[in-house]
Amino acid sequence: MSEAPHTWHDHEKVEEYVGRVNRLAARQAGEAELVEALPEHVERVLDLGCGDGKLAAVVLEARPGAAEAIGVDRSEPMLDLARQRFAAEPRVGLVEHDLDTPLPDLGTFDVVVSGFAIHHLAHERKQSLLGEVAHALRPGGVFANLEVVQCATDELQQEFYRRIERPGGDPEDQLAPIEPQLAWMREAGLVQVDCSWRWRGFALLVGQAP
Ligand SMILES: C[S@@+](CC[C@H](N)C(=O)[O-])C[C@H]1O[C@@H](n2cnc3c(N)ncnc32)[C@H](O)[C@@H]1O
Repeated sequence: MSEAPHTWHDHEKVEEYVGRVNRLAARQAGEAELVEALPEHVERVLDLGCGDGKLAAVVLEARPGAAEAIGVDRSEPMLDLARQRFAAEPRVGLVEHDLDTPLPDLGTFDVVVSGFAIHHLAHERKQSLLGEVAHALRPGGVFANLEVVQCATDELQQEFYRRIERPGGDPEDQLAPIEPQLAWMREAGLVQVDCSWRWRGFALLVGQAP
């Protein structure tokens, strides 16, 4: 019997994730809310933990005038899928990078998005990354983090995992509740910080550069 896959470097885990999550109605609802949070004018977009590039694609579709999107991830199988998705899209650049370490200098952005990725980092690194995000945003730029968050009780957590067809959750998860995450975003210098949408353990955490 083969063991369950455990890391994002594992093709089996990546295929299971992409097949399951993109058909979840809650993901689609979260993406629709994320589009609502985008500024009208978007030139450059950064997608942190871009995976197969789904969220960057959502932003480019919503803001077709955007000049460039950069996706950052450390998983080779995920980056392969993103390369396939964007094979005919010259506006997209993909960077292999471990978010456990500081972001490389990628310039400044009108929008930084992240989809279900930052919860894989230790809380301390989540906080320092938020500082790097605030630094990379242009004035008035938007950070929109569609994230997996900690539910209020273990019972609710398990019910959430059941509903996203991931019983028991992901051993790589390092979930934080919403409120501390909003506080970390404010401490990083973001303004207009709020949780603008939530469904069980999915939440859209939004902030803006002053
Ligand atoms: C649940 S998937 C989400 C993928 C995609 N953003 C989406 O919206 O579906 C989590 C992604 O975060 C990436 N990730 C997790 N930890 C990472 C790290 N330390 N550095 C870079 N990427 C990381 C994984 O490789 C994976 O692609």
